[in-house]
Amino acid sequence: MHRILSRELGAGKVLVGEELVEPYARDESGLGAFLPECVVLAGSREEVSLVLRLAAEHRVPVTPRGLGTGMTGGALAVNGGIVLSTERMSRILEIDRDDMIAVVEPGVVLGHFQDVVESQGLFYPPDPASLAMCSIGGNVAENAGGPRAFKYGVTREYVLGLEVALMGGELLRMGRRTVKGVTGYDVVAAFVGSEGTFGVTTEVTVKLIPLPQGVATMLGVFRTMGDAGEAISAILHRGFRPRALELLDRMAIDHVRPKALYRFPEWAEAVALVELDGDPEGLEASMLRCAAACEEKGAVEVLVAKDEKERRQIWQARRIVSSSLRDAHPSKIAEDICVPRGRIPEMLRRATRIGDKYDLPVATYGHAGDGNLHVNILVDEDRRRPSVMARVENALAELFRDTLELRGTLSGEHGIGLAKKKYMPLEQPPPLIEWQKRLKRLWDPMDLLNPGKIFP
Ligand code: MLT
Ligand code: ZN
Repeated sequence: MHRILSRELGAGKVLVGEELVEPYARDESGLGAFLPECVVLAGSREEVSLVLRLAAEHRVPVTPRGLGTGMTGGALAVNGGIVLSTERMSRILEIDRDDMIAVVEPGVVLGHFQDVVESQGLFYPPDPASLAMCSIGGNVAENAGGPRAFKYGVTREYVLGLEVALMGGELLRMGRRTVKGVTGYDVVAAFVGSEGTFGVTTEVTVKLIPLPQGVATMLGVFRTMGDAGEAISAILHRGFRPRALELLDRMAIDHVRPKALYRFPEWAEAVALVELDGDPEGLEASMLRCAAACEEKGAVEVLVAKDEKERRQIWQARRIVSSSLRDAHPSKIAEDICVPRGRIPEMLRRATRIGDKYDLPVATYGHAGDGNLHVNILVDEDRRRPSVMARVENALAELFRDTLELRGTLSGEHGIGLAKKKYMPLEQPPPLIEWQKRLKRLWDPMDLLNPGKIFP
């Protein structure tokens, strides 16, 4: 296949050989390496379309790839074949301040896009922790969220229109450029979050909103997780809608401490990060009321950032949680459960109990505002050893059963991919899974596009 692709696309666009394809064999899931036959670095919609036409003709599987920061193995070429990278399609095509929209190619790095948009007084809120190195195409595939999803929602709420290439090579435009629009089925919404199994994104039109003029950030440090949970409830009950409401447990704090710019006290058992935004007038007073709520609920230390530097220090600690845990425990398993907000304290208790029961260290952190908790099982021993595997598997199954018992869901923002597909039947009944498989076959009848993902 790579010879045909090289002939059609020209030299330099097709990578072959273990050394060159190896960097495209992994992602952030920690599920290991899956070497494709070749990697195509597509530079245009026409090239994406051509690859999908040739692959269909030769019945070769294609795995689309953004920048490889996915957490559930969505970009892993489990059946070999072609990895189709859109990293070279990285132009911001348009930012329209009147229409308040932007049009981008899929390979644009999210953080760069946000900087450009914000320099024009506009705002694109979705903020996965990997924002400095993830691509908007990948965000669309996974329907990425982040801390700001609590107030502003996830990627799907901002994608107005898409152009995609379908297996076989057809290019299809869908959606609109207007903020409102209900013409036909919401096909855009179905493609966002389809984990690269319906089509390959070649262009994205997103909605922008006005950049909030004021932002205030604080950190509350607690002696118990229960206190932190109560502080979060108190802030919400007082009618605040923070743009981020994050929580870190002791294990997570201990892992970021060495690299964190903020000096976490040794006794810290839990940390709550609260960020408000909006009209600068009154923001400080609101922040002080949130800080007071934390103190009333037992916060021993409260830091309200007094300038941008302190804000960045607070966020730096939060953004490095995942990578610090991975550095210390390369085979860690990062889960992404989401429970109704009122069940967060119970879910936290159950996660701790599961860790104790199976003798596995667990770090829990994440987006407490919307119940999306990253429960990380910190396995150090070689995960493939049968005895370790069995314990981890049992712990995970119990974690998911507990999540569903509390009326939660398996994934809040990372997707199902390869990592969680076998647990899908725990949450969804067979007919629903079957209807989704039919939907997949509609767009990709030969099951060549990102095969082996989402469904058991
Ligand atoms: C985060 O919130 O830090 C990211 O979703 C990554 C993770 O799960 O660790
Ligand atoms: Zn997250």
